[in-house]
This record gives sequence, C-alpha cells and structure tokens, in this order.
Amino acid sequence: MFITFEGLDGSGKSTQAELLAEAIRDAGRDVVTTREPGGTPLGERVRELLLTGDGISPWAEAALFAAARAELVDEVIGPALERGAVVVCDRYLDSSLAYQGVARGLGVERVLQLNLPAIGERLPDRTFLLEIDPDESVRRVGRNGDRIEREDEQFRRQVADAYRLLAETFPQRIEAVDGSRPPTDIAKEIFGRVRESL
Ligand code: ADP
Ligand code: TYD
Repeated sequence: MFITFEGLDGSGKSTQAELLAEAIRDAGRDVVTTREPGGTPLGERVRELLLTGDGISPWAEAALFAAARAELVDEVIGPALERGAVVVCDRYLDSSLAYQGVARGLGVERVLQLNLPAIGERLPDRTFLLEIDPDESVRRVGRNGDRIEREDEQFRRQVADAYRLLAETFPQRIEAVDGSRPPTDIAKEIFGRVRESL
C-alpha cells in the first residue's frame, strides 16, 4: 500500500506521517517513510536548488520536482512496494498539481502529463489531505520558511483551493482530514481508516 500526505506547509504532514508509520509498524507491517522533495541523494541536492536561492522559472521548478520524484520512485518507493512494504510519503504528485499546476498557473493537466512518465504511473493508493486555514499555516511555520513558503497569502489560498478541488476530482483516492485538531486525535482517525486495509 502506498500512502501520501498532502496539505499546506505546517498542516502537520510530517507529524502525521511519523505517527501513522509508527502505528502500522506496531501492527506488525514493514513500513518505509520518505519525503519530497528529497528522500534520495539526488533528491536532497534538488531540494537545495528548489528551496534556497532566488527565483526559478515555473517550468524549471516543476521539472526539478518531477526529477526528484522520478528518482525517489525508482530508488525507494518502487522497490519498497515490490517487496510488500507499506510506503508513507510526506508530499507527492498532488503537491506539484496544487503548487505548480494551480498556484504557479502551469495547468493541472500539463503538470500531470509531465509527472506521469516520471513516476511510471505509480499513483498513491490513498492520500490524506490535512486541511488547515492558510492563516494557521503561517502561524505554525513562522516567517522563516523556505523559498516557496515565503510566497504571499494569495498563493497559499490558491494552494488550499487547489487541494480542495483535487480532493473533489479524485474522491476515491484523496481523503480530507480536519488538521486543526490535536495531533493524536488526527492520528487516531487516520489509522482507523487505514487499519482495515492493512
Ligand atoms: P508539515 O510537515 O505539514 O509542514 P509539521 O508536522 O512539520 O507540518 O508541523 C508543523 C508545525 O506545526 C510543528 O511545529 C508541529 O509541532 C505543529 N503541529 C503539527 N500538527 C499540529 C496540530 N494538529 N495542531 C497544532 N500544531 C501542530
Ligand atoms: P516541504 O519540505 O514538505 O515543506 P513543509 O514540510 O514545510 O510542508 O516542502 C517544501 C516546499 O516545496 C513546500 O512549500 C511545498 C513545495 N513543493 C512544491 O511546490 N511542489 C512539489 O511538488 C513539492 C513536493 C513541494
């Protein structure tokens, strides 16, 4: 099973990915956790390029995220799924659809078409979208975010709206979760939904 977490910066993805992995491991299953951008030596170098420094043109940004993702699927996600492990990934394809496809204005369909060959058509089985208000995202992340986190309020609203639209478009894969509650409550709800398919 391939599970991804999505949401605004500070929505609790890393926290929930860790809690879910722990619960799945306690249930006796092999789990691999990873994150995007990053998760491989090449991916971590691409992460540096993407999140530090100044402007990058929108298509260069989308292509670099896709490059890091291709490497992650090839090196980590694919092999783990093939040996029967559960994979939990902090951000994946939907981040590119929301941030580059919508907020950067490249188009969801075009960003999807860039990514599908890169990921060998490997879509997640389940995606948990942690929903928080964009203002809460700023409160949690503070003012020291990375290059993309420093984008303005309108950008964050566009990302939040894009995620909601993606959840409506792919209702069988993307499940929205109220991310404003205490972390342990959210974790309980998510594990409750995952447990029956382990
Ligand atoms: P993300 O990976 O989505 O950026 P993190 O899990 O790193 O989010 O959490 C960002 C910040 O918000 C951290 O300081 C974390 O302690 C805090 N946080 C995470 N989940 C919650 C929650 N449910 N309620 C309040 N604060 C949270
Ligand atoms: P990340 O390190 O996950 O930030 P956080 O843990 O604070 O949520 O992601 C870094 C930034 O990269 C984040 O602002 C979202 C952005 N991003 C994209 O724009 N497109 C993508 O495809 C991915 C994976 C991330």
